[in-house]
Amino acid sequence: MSHQEIRNRFIKFFESKNHKIIPSSSLLPSDPSVLFTTAGMQQFKPYYTDPDSAQKNFGSLNTVSIQKCLRTSDIDEVGDESHLTFFEMLGNFSFGGYWKKEAIQSAFEFITKELNLNISSVSVFGGNELVPRDDESAAIWKSLDSGLKITEGDINDNFWGPTGSEGPCGPTTEIYVDGLEVWNIVFNEFYYPGSRDELLKGTAGKELRPLETKGIDTGMGLERLAMVVQEKKNLYETDLFESLMLLLPNGQDLKAKRMIIDHARAIAFLLAEGLSPSNKEQGYVLRRLMRRIITQEHLDQNINLLLILRNVIDEYSGIYPELKRQDMLSIFESEKGKFGKTLAQGLKELEKIPFINAQIAFKLYESYGLPYEVMKDR
Ligand code: SER
Repeated sequence: MSHQEIRNRFIKFFESKNHKIIPSSSLLPSDPSVLFTTAGMQQFKPYYTDPDSAQKNFGSLNTVSIQKCLRTSDIDEVGDESHLTFFEMLGNFSFGGYWKKEAIQSAFEFITKELNLNISSVSVFGGNELVPRDDESAAIWKSLDSGLKITEGDINDNFWGPTGSEGPCGPTTEIYVDGLEVWNIVFNEFYYPGSRDELLKGTAGKELRPLETKGIDTGMGLERLAMVVQEKKNLYETDLFESLMLLLPNGQDLKAKRMIIDHARAIAFLLAEGLSPSNKEQGYVLRRLMRRIITQEHLDQNINLLLILRNVIDEYSGIYPELKRQDMLSIFESEKGKFGKTLAQGLKELEKIPFINAQIAFKLYESYGLPYEVMKDR
């Protein structure tokens, strides 16, 4: 089943269950307390506390979307089997339209009937001093499949949110297929007036309060789902990446190859939002992503980043027309021109140094923008 078919099936499935289809929001969110859109629920955050406006804006209390997301917290993991910076998230949401039973039933039906996959296990929130164990979800899963393996997770694994400086949050139940977590279903039944870090620390004066209307927020990474549906051992063998991987020279280090393709996707989608590389905030992240792959091209002249970026654009512009933006490749070329010169100097300096310690690594990064992984790999 192609990624296009997975997309279509997901959207149609929830449309048939009275969900309004909402396009992806920008990767650059309107909430100033977060740098990038990291989850499908972000564009819907206000509706969990104001369901009436969901009804007014969408003509429905339920929505479905495929959201462009960027997460840089795992950037050093990129290149393994399952971590990405840019990814797309399939999600269904409800602001008082339905609750646990319907959410779990729909997810079960979609995974086992629509996609014909076996669920290997599910996890539920195991409870803590503030929120009780989620026995209700466990009972719903049992009613659907009495033999299903159910595990319990703590606040780190089975309690989502809030995103940004405050917001809705709640216990989650996660679905695993072939041992890989594919779907996270969040029961937004609380509001926390602080960040997730503050929640985890138990900050004095900030308490979870029940939301007036209980909400649903689910997220399923398209790439991981494609991996299990298409029975591949890693993300890069799915049809979302396969043809892009073929553009890289044979024999190159596999982790580096995957990193180049992952970053090229992230770069194309960030440029498509009108972002330019710079030395602060979002622009800094873009510049860092660019510099990491420009360094790889510099080290191996058989890599052609422009060709890869053009192919990313061709591959996705049917789905995301914003990728047709005219100035994207010239912005990339200009950063390459600027960074190329300092990079060459930095690499020369690196050759002269017999032993690298943290101080030298920092100096090479500060003065020449030399990515740490290049120094590490030496
Ligand atoms: N917000 C949750 C997540 O990103 C579910 O969508 O995993």
